[in-house]
Amino acid sequence: MEIRLESLEDTERFGVKLGQVLKSGDVVCLNGELGAGKTTLTKSIGIGLGVNDYITSPTFTLINEYSGRLPVYHFDVYRLENVEDLYDLGFDEYFYGKGVSIVEWAEKIEGLLPEHRLVLDIEKGNDIDKRVIKIKAYGNRYIEMLKELGEN
Ligand SMILES: Nc1ncnc2c1ncn2[C@@H]1O[C@H](COP(=O)(O)OP(=O)(O)OP(=O)(O)O)[C@@H](O)[C@H]1O
Ligand SMILES: [Mg+2]
Repeated sequence: MEIRLESLEDTERFGVKLGQVLKSGDVVCLNGELGAGKTTLTKSIGIGLGVNDYITSPTFTLINEYSGRLPVYHFDVYRLENVEDLYDLGFDEYFYGKGVSIVEWAEKIEGLLPEHRLVLDIEKGNDIDKRVIKIKAYGNRYIEMLKELGEN
C-alpha cells in the first residue's frame, strides 16, 4: 500500500489515525533517509496513542519509553554500532511486550525484528513538504490493520 502525503499536516493526520488503531504488542518499523519524517510521524502516532509527553528522538539513548493508552517504546537505532547494546537493553522484552514499539531506522536491525510487523518506508520527493509512504504488512494482524486504516 502506498500513501501520498501532501503536507506536514497530512503526515500528522495519518500518524494520529495509525496511533488510534494500534494495539498491545504492535511493532511499527520506520525507514527513510535523514529528515524523511520518522520522528515527526512518531510524534503523531504518539498523539493517536494518547501520549501527553513531548516525544523526542532517542538517538543517543536508543530507546525512550512513554505512556499513553498503552506503553510506547520509541527506538532509534541510527547510531547503533553493536547489536550487543540492544541485547543489553533487553530489546526483545519491548518488541514482545505489552506496549507498542516504534522503531526508527528499523532496516539496520532487520534480523532482530519480530516476523510480524508493520513496515513504513518514508520517501522524500522534490517538494519539501511532500512524502510518499510505502507500507508493508507482515502478518495477519497488520493486514487487518491496513484494512481498518483504509476504511476510515
Ligand atoms: N509531509 C511531511 N511529513 C513529515 N515531515 C515533514 C513533512 N514536511 C516537512 N517535514 C519536515 O521534515 C522534517 C523531518 O524530520 P524528522 O526529524 O521527523 O526526520 P527523521 O526521519 O526522523 O530524521 P532522522 O533520520 O534524522 O531521525 C521535519 O523538520 C518536518 O517538519
Ligand atoms: Mg528521527
